[in-house]
Amino acid sequence: MTKVIDVELRGIMKKFQSNVVVQDFNLQVEQGEFIAFLGPSGCGKTTTLNMIAGFLDPDGGDLLIKGQRMNRVPPYKRELGMVFQTYSLFPHMTVAENIAYGLKLRKVGKKEMQERVKRVLDLVKLPNVADRYPKQLSGGQRQRIAIARALVIEPSLLLLDEPLSNLDAKLRDELRDELKRLHQEIGVTTIFVTHDQEEALALSDRIVVLNHGFVEQIGTPLEIYNQPASEFVHTFIGKTNRMEGEVIGMDDNQITVRTTGGLLVQAAKQQRTFSPQQKVIVFVRPEKITLSDTVADTGANRVEGHLQLASFLGSYTECEVRVGEHTLSVKVQMTDKSAEREAGEAVYCQWNAEDVLIMPAERG
Ligand SMILES: Nc1ncnc2c1ncn2[C@@H]1O[C@H](COP(=O)(O)OP(=O)(O)OP(=O)(O)O)[C@@H](O)[C@H]1O
Ligand SMILES: [Mg+2]
Repeated sequence: MTKVIDVELRGIMKKFQSNVVVQDFNLQVEQGEFIAFLGPSGCGKTTTLNMIAGFLDPDGGDLLIKGQRMNRVPPYKRELGMVFQTYSLFPHMTVAENIAYGLKLRKVGKKEMQERVKRVLDLVKLPNVADRYPKQLSGGQRQRIAIARALVIEPSLLLLDEPLSNLDAKLRDELRDELKRLHQEIGVTTIFVTHDQEEALALSDRIVVLNHGFVEQIGTPLEIYNQPASEFVHTFIGKTNRMEGEVIGMDDNQITVRTTGGLLVQAAKQQRTFSPQQKVIVFVRPEKITLSDTVADTGANRVEGHLQLASFLGSYTECEVRVGEHTLSVKVQMTDKSAEREAGEAVYCQWNAEDVLIMPAERG
């Protein structure tokens, strides 16, 4: 099957005055794909999205949509739907008028317009609000209307700039699931901007991780999570324990690292290759570490420590364990009886060699 490329960025660069904010951005978005741009505030997500939308012109490189060079083509000629971070509904128009706006511009007939407005309202599960004004809706409902308005023109590309970030946690989760369902249903090629790693992991076919205007990594959620290209990617995508150390032993299957705090950490074979005495950084995710009262004979890594802090967070307990000079963060699921621990106890931490990630200490 030949893949159809809907959007292509070739070495895109953008600067404001002398300040380069997006650099050498290369990406091919396949038809039907859901792509997330993920990165901290100011890393260039909105700027890149606005170049794809046509609100900004790139200062270098080429932007292609469906194979056509689009560098200076205005937004209205790009057939795209866009949802902005802040509610972008017209306050003086009803929901139906808001949604129909883009259809009016396109001179769609009245009957078809009514049908299409009804169809997208059903799609976002708000069939009964057509006659209300935006101020008569909740924040989550408004964002769903903004999504409906973007979808009604049947765009070939849907661009979403942090559409969920103004909502409270529960609503955000609900709307996130709904976005996923919508995408499964209509399959429109989507680029979604977020600084929330969970949103990116949950929704995307692939994630583009951005840092200071640079693409750090492009990959599936699993690749980004399990095979991070850099320390930045690994630490941005979730909580982790970080220890500095040195490679003191290796064979075909395992690498042994002695941390600066004197811990010996066994790691399974890595994607990268390392050499003896190399300075490295060792990472273990908090959810990969288990706590027990006795030394069990499972897990390649077993260390004794003292529980310093236990914060009950509902479905899990977040623990801090002092191990020599290191403080390890451990996430204990509620299904585990050790979730009921209290600070001050002596505990053993253990984790598997397969769950240890090693990176070279110096970048490159
Ligand atoms: N019109 C502008 N003029 C000058 N600098 C700008 C302009 N727009 C954005 N910038 C700068 O470009 C950089 C990238 O901004 P951008 O809005 O793309 O970030 P972002 O990744 O979307 O961040 P956030 O998560 O906070 O929305 C920032 O340093 C910002 O200050
Ligand atoms: Mg932004």
